[in-house]
Amino acid sequence: MIRNAWYALGFSAELPTGALQGHQVAGLPIVAWRTEGGDVVALDARCAHKRFPLWDGRLLDGDRLECAYHGFCYDPTGRCVAIPALAERSQRIPTTARQRPFPIVEQDGLVWIWTGDPERGAKGGPPRTPEIAGTGWETLVTEPIEVAANYRLLIENLFDLRGRADRKMGS
Ligand code: FES
Repeated sequence: MIRNAWYALGFSAELPTGALQGHQVAGLPIVAWRTEGGDVVALDARCAHKRFPLWDGRLLDGDRLECAYHGFCYDPTGRCVAIPALAERSQRIPTTARQRPFPIVEQDGLVWIWTGDPERGAKGGPPRTPEIAGTGWETLVTEPIEVAANYRLLIENLFDLRGRADRKMGS
């Protein structure tokens, strides 16, 4: 599994404000949403408490994500900011109660996520795709196509377009 890579999470228009989404990226369960301020947030979707999938939770005021199981609340950085059961025992939230945040870049009409080493991801951004948001191009959006194959075969096939075009032209 290739983790040190930028992956397209979706088109910007597919991430409206205030709606939780579940994704599987590079084998990782991801919960994502667009905050009230317009930023896209992506966290590890396995709740730090009992690993319940956070995409089944709900968003509260202030962009807090509440787990549907026992109510742990996380802020957009992944920090746990509330544990309902602690009100009766202690006010201390364990520092280990946090979700891994993933770097996100939104550009040219796409939302990109980095699933690997954060230091490596910060050095170079995702590829530019001006044709998606540019007015001089037309972009057709289709429904996802399910293919019973390893996704890397499809990526390798698409990388080969230039080579095929050159061979056809005899260069
Ligand atoms: S599993 Fe999420 S709060 Fe318990």
